[in-house]
Amino acid sequence: MPEELIKVTINGKDFQVAKGARLIDVCRENQFDIPSFCYYADLALQASCRMCLVRIEKMPKLQTSCTIICTDGMVVTTQSEEIEKAQRSMLEFLLANHPLDCPVCDRGGECELQELTFDWGNLEERFIEQKNAMPEKYLSPMVANDPQRCILCKRCTRVCDEWMGEDAIEAGNRGANTVIGTYGGWLNCSQCGNCIEVCPTGTLLDGTYRHQARPWELTQTVSTCAYCSDGCQMSLGSRGDELMRIVARDRYVNGLNGEFLCIKGRFGHPFVNHEKRIRTPLIRYKKGGKLIPATWDEAIRFTAQHLDAVVAEHGNNSLGVVGSARLTNEALYCLRKFATEVVETENYAIVDAFCIKPLFDNLGGPLATHDEIRHAKTIVLIGGEPEELQPLTAKQIRQAVRNGGAKLILVNSVPIRLREQASQFIHTRPGAENAAVLALTDGSHDDLAARKMGVGADELDLARRTIAGTLGDVVVMFGPELSSEAQALVAQMPYTFAGEARRVLLHPLPLFNNSVGALDMGLHGKTLTETLSAAGSSVRALYVAGSFLAEHLRDAGDAIRRVDFLVVQELFENDTTALADVVFPAASFAEIDGTYTNNDGFVQRVRKSIEPVSQSKPDWLIVSQVAKELGVDFGFEMSASSVFRELADRTPAYVSLRYPALKDETRPVQVKHAIASKHDLGNQIESVRHAVESLNDDGEKCSDTPQVGHGLFKLGTLTEKVPQFHLLAAGNPKPETFRISPLYQITIDEKLKRQPAVA
Ligand code: SF4
Ligand code: SF4
Ligand code: SF4
Ligand code: FES
Repeated sequence: MPEELIKVTINGKDFQVAKGARLIDVCRENQFDIPSFCYYADLALQASCRMCLVRIEKMPKLQTSCTIICTDGMVVTTQSEEIEKAQRSMLEFLLANHPLDCPVCDRGGECELQELTFDWGNLEERFIEQKNAMPEKYLSPMVANDPQRCILCKRCTRVCDEWMGEDAIEAGNRGANTVIGTYGGWLNCSQCGNCIEVCPTGTLLDGTYRHQARPWELTQTVSTCAYCSDGCQMSLGSRGDELMRIVARDRYVNGLNGEFLCIKGRFGHPFVNHEKRIRTPLIRYKKGGKLIPATWDEAIRFTAQHLDAVVAEHGNNSLGVVGSARLTNEALYCLRKFATEVVETENYAIVDAFCIKPLFDNLGGPLATHDEIRHAKTIVLIGGEPEELQPLTAKQIRQAVRNGGAKLILVNSVPIRLREQASQFIHTRPGAENAAVLALTDGSHDDLAARKMGVGADELDLARRTIAGTLGDVVVMFGPELSSEAQALVAQMPYTFAGEARRVLLHPLPLFNNSVGALDMGLHGKTLTETLSAAGSSVRALYVAGSFLAEHLRDAGDAIRRVDFLVVQELFENDTTALADVVFPAASFAEIDGTYTNNDGFVQRVRKSIEPVSQSKPDWLIVSQVAKELGVDFGFEMSASSVFRELADRTPAYVSLRYPALKDETRPVQVKHAIASKHDLGNQIESVRHAVESLNDDGEKCSDTPQVGHGLFKLGTLTEKVPQFHLLAAGNPKPETFRISPLYQITIDEKLKRQPAVA
């Protein structure tokens, strides 16, 4: 429906604006600066700072523009002596208790309060009373707090509640003694740090980076998170060759996640400059021997000679090429080119924790963007746990329900935290999520599905009716519980459920940052299981960029050990490099240029923030150098953009894309995944039905909601390099004193032994 427009006059100029628009937004969109502290777009109104005052004709007093919805013919003044005087007075009140300690405040140089104070200049301070002084302290291993700097805008409490659904911080005490605090003095939350990000002052601070650098010392580089598939945009703050911090602060970056990041994106970066990074290429000259440091030339020559020998003796298919879905599109493209054009093997595969290929093989509609999730009318979430695995998606779901009135239909065997937002929770028996997909696709299976799921058939019918009755967007999401056939049924749901005034969009929940890109790059000649099952027999050598997952090493470790030659590109020595004959030091996401494709289908830039650590090199370059030694020059001239140019020209969904088209993170580019036609789903329905029939009728349901952080705080190769993650993984013990970082008070061993606090 076309938007209804109304006329508003601001400072003597006429504007056509959408009916229902908020005055502060309209003024700002039209370049009339309005100061504010408490207003934050897409959060509940607070209206407490009174900085956003304007004069509206025919209204008796100055009005707060954040609370005013524009009406037709409204005449507004945003700048006048009267307004400035009122705003100066409000600022003076805000500073009544605020210490003027900007030179020692971590937020100094990027503080909204400091900026506004300097903007006005010549601000009077008439209060002579003693300010409330309170000691600095820690609220958690991640969040430091200087309570006396608080201006009570309550952005922090609102993001904690509305974005995170946690409500872990609140205002306590009364009047001039009001402070933002925690329940019980210690934050047992998901430690996202979004309260730090949105705080306009130096009250809530990054406890892991505190007092290490000033903002003006940092070079800010906009890049994409390397953890989950949500693909948050972030600003990497580096000083020299050290990555100091990561923020999503909107003065530096304004991507699909706004100022949101989760704990991993914000705090999980110290692995980049970690002392345990592999520094040089390593060669194991003899099986059972040690990995010995070597030069790049030696290691590349050694690798090429051995790969050549294996292929000469056993044929092209004796080499398996494997790439992690954590790598950039450029690296994965080079790996596939290496497999198909250099060694010409059919054995190439992706290492991923959850394969969503069946979705793309049957894709019946577009992928939902995070913005579309936020504005969806109905969201169907089958399996998965986005709160722990794709936290931005979880935030969008929460806001769609809480701020947008969407209905959430949750199908899960576990009452995950998003259950609190669900309008319908279909609590299935473990392993019966596929039955829900069967019933949603074809109602004639309701009785079977309901019996196996342990729910009423009417619950399934209600879910179908909610979807069918939706006017607006329906977003269907699914997690790793679904079988390939069930994924295919979900992929076709746009055909099953679309109707007049209703779009059905799909949003997979893969587990790795570039799971979607890895499929797009076509590195799936075989499944990894097929490649590994041939390891040690027909597959005699493996070239691995990234590492195998623990389950692969558990199930196929012996087979991998039997190959004649194993090459690994990695950041750290681990269980995969322990089996390798050659290890190449790979550069991390902070040291390279490239792209990742997220679960929206957005292809987003990864940008080099610091020089490669030690002798590491980008994965795509390492593969290209080995290829050159084997006689095939990829011709990429040391530039990731030339790799991208070729991959875009050869990958239909990316056709004609170039780096300059991806430069603006505020306008991410969605790749054009091919939409499959409507299929006859008879075979998949039959296969899912068969699997559902074999389920038990009496499986016990899990009734406990999982603890916050059980997935987020899990120690992985990267997060274990962050000392604070160890505290969180050990249960986030409350320290003896909040004034000293818990890192200095608690030693993590099996008993969480407390050390005497040291200053
Ligand atoms: S870190 Fe995140 S979850 Fe914890 S209090 Fe701050 S906003 Fe809330
Ligand atoms: S801690 Fe920061 S965000 Fe929270 S109320 Fe105080 S000034 Fe506002
Ligand atoms: S939600 Fe995902 S992409 Fe965003 S910061 Fe967290 S791990 Fe990174
Ligand atoms: S921004 Fe309007 S009252 Fe604070």
